[in-house]
Amino acid sequence: MAGAFFKQTYFIPKPTLTEENLPDQSGKVHIVTGGYAGIGLELTKILYQKNATIYAAGRSGGKAKKAIEAMKIEFANSTGKIEFLQLDLDDLSTIKRSAEEFLSKESRLDVLVNNAGVMVPPAGSKTKQGYDLQMGVNCIGPFLFTQFLLPILQKTAATAPAGSVRITWASSLAADLSAPKGGVEIDKDGAPKVQKNPELNYGQSKSGNVMFAVEAARRYGKDGIISTAWNPGHLKSELSRTAGLIQSIFIKLLANPPKLGGYTELYAGWSPDITLDNNGAYVIPWGRIGEYNSALAKVIKPEAKGGEGRAERLWDWCERETKKYT
Ligand SMILES: NC(=O)c1ccc[n+]([C@@H]2O[C@H](COP(=O)([O-])OP(=O)(O)OC[C@H]3O[C@@H](n4cnc5c(N)ncnc54)[C@H](OP(=O)(O)O)[C@@H]3O)[C@@H](O)[C@H]2O)c1
Repeated sequence: MAGAFFKQTYFIPKPTLTEENLPDQSGKVHIVTGGYAGIGLELTKILYQKNATIYAAGRSGGKAKKAIEAMKIEFANSTGKIEFLQLDLDDLSTIKRSAEEFLSKESRLDVLVNNAGVMVPPAGSKTKQGYDLQMGVNCIGPFLFTQFLLPILQKTAATAPAGSVRITWASSLAADLSAPKGGVEIDKDGAPKVQKNPELNYGQSKSGNVMFAVEAARRYGKDGIISTAWNPGHLKSELSRTAGLIQSIFIKLLANPPKLGGYTELYAGWSPDITLDNNGAYVIPWGRIGEYNSALAKVIKPEAKGGEGRAERLWDWCERETKKYT
């Protein structure tokens, strides 16, 4: 465990895809959930300076407005567009409205970055519909948001350059270090089990994102859509806002600048190293193809290929569970 932590905190090779060599993004449209804070903001800045249209989606309009104004000043020469999109991932009944707002404004979507997330809120925290907050905000909400956006992603992929239309999902080293064995414990219906320890629930939600990435690659690769999961590294951000004092000090002392996490996300969504042939790839700091842990790999393998099919079952459960909000 200490080895895995060390490996992702020190002696990491330099990022290979940055604002220096990312091709111009004029005419491309991207959504970054949580794109006005932490790592998501760093990614948004890179895309905006390369003239992309970006929707920074989240729940805090005022905070987003400030970040957007600052970006417009910092990158005054950009010919891109940056807008806030209201999205509250902890209330499934509002997500359709957010997707519809986007769809009323744009006719293409190149990359959907499911970046927003929460980590270790107070034990027992729940979403508006009563799900464990971390499973709800990190997995079920992004799942539903993605469902609404699939038709526009499919339509964009039909004419965009091969491999350029993508969905990316936020994972973490927590999927290796603080998740139950096999990532997500599910019951016979595919429903994720709520763990007593909020840290296990975080690791479980981040493993859920790996499962979604792999499953979306399997289901929508045929439409030309690439789906990846990324572990951004260990970074300074607001993510540890609910952590205890000792944990916060530890995180702050060891964490890296958030921009490096932005490069991990950039690689997952824009690197030409990822193609339809390695669809479902897992990206590690600061933008390399890595591997998720073997227990997770084992349960993710589809039933049709002799595996347990846990990703498939979690996906199907989410589909049934969110149906009434579609
Ligand atoms: N930082 C790290 O070291 C690290 C390591 C591994 C994985 N990650 C993952 O990377 C992603 C980004 O993390 P970060 O470090 O940038 O965290 P952050 O600074 O806390 O940013 C998280 C973003 O998610 C948004 N968000 C939270 N709850 C939401 C909700 N209910 N609906 C919509 N948006 C919501 C936040 O919005 P508000 O600003 O409005 O609260 C914020 O914009 C997360 O998924 C996290 O799990 C981070």
